[in-house]
Amino acid sequence: MKMDDFNEILENFEKENGFSTMPEVVSDVLYSLESDRTALNDVAKIIKKDPGFAANILKYANSGAYLLSRAVFTVEQAVRTIGLGPLKGLCLALPVFTKFRHVPGVGEIWDHCRATAVCCQTVARAINFSEPDIAETSGLLHDIGKVVLAVSAANFFQSQIQVADSPDRDPDWRQEKKVLGFNHCFIGAWFARKFRLPSILVDGILWHHEFEKSSYGRDLTCLTFIGDQLAAAIGRAHPDFVFVEPEFERALSHMKIDNHLLPGILQDCITRIDMIAA
Ligand SMILES: [Fe+2]
Ligand SMILES: [Fe+2]
Repeated sequence: MKMDDFNEILENFEKENGFSTMPEVVSDVLYSLESDRTALNDVAKIIKKDPGFAANILKYANSGAYLLSRAVFTVEQAVRTIGLGPLKGLCLALPVFTKFRHVPGVGEIWDHCRATAVCCQTVARAINFSEPDIAETSGLLHDIGKVVLAVSAANFFQSQIQVADSPDRDPDWRQEKKVLGFNHCFIGAWFARKFRLPSILVDGILWHHEFEKSSYGRDLTCLTFIGDQLAAAIGRAHPDFVFVEPEFERALSHMKIDNHLLPGILQDCITRIDMIAA
């Protein structure tokens, strides 16, 4: 890894107040989530102190990311719907994606991450994965490193968007490694460590394109990759690489998702993502 370039990109991002100026409400929520005794209503109370943030949480709960029999109207209902685990990831993701939504490509990365979270949720349910909340969070945060590239390595990132659908190109993460010496997965893992996310989640973000390298939670990492690839397969790809990777098949077989299970999962993902679009 070219450490100097890596540090320079992170420094440039911090100059834009990238990760360091999380709204006060986020640090308060994160602090409260550190305690095992925190109840849903305590978290809702904190969120309500920031009406703008509360509105974003409500919007997300009603966005189609969850199967709801009726609309969610209160922050308490929204927190209950999202769950405390995924809420932590959402609290970290929302300010970053909101702050940089004007940067070309960031809106598409957010769409892709939301779709990936839904696909991870869907797969986790279909295979009875033991930690569906962590899978959803991993899907939501897996490409947060791309926001840093879009903001602080803009020329490189835009050049990748130009060739996103070129048939002979390398996948995004390989190309980033080749040109920059590191990739969005390394940046995402740095972010996850900075905000003290559990090791299993750091691993899920770090190795989501190379799940066999994961040592803390290979199944979660593999599931994150499957969610990412399903999102791409149904038209919610990254702005800088639109194809499904050949390793997808190996990942499916690692999670024992065979040809009987896959069509149902795919159909559920399409239905759920159509709900988000609607
Ligand atoms: Fe990725
Ligand atoms: Fe992705």
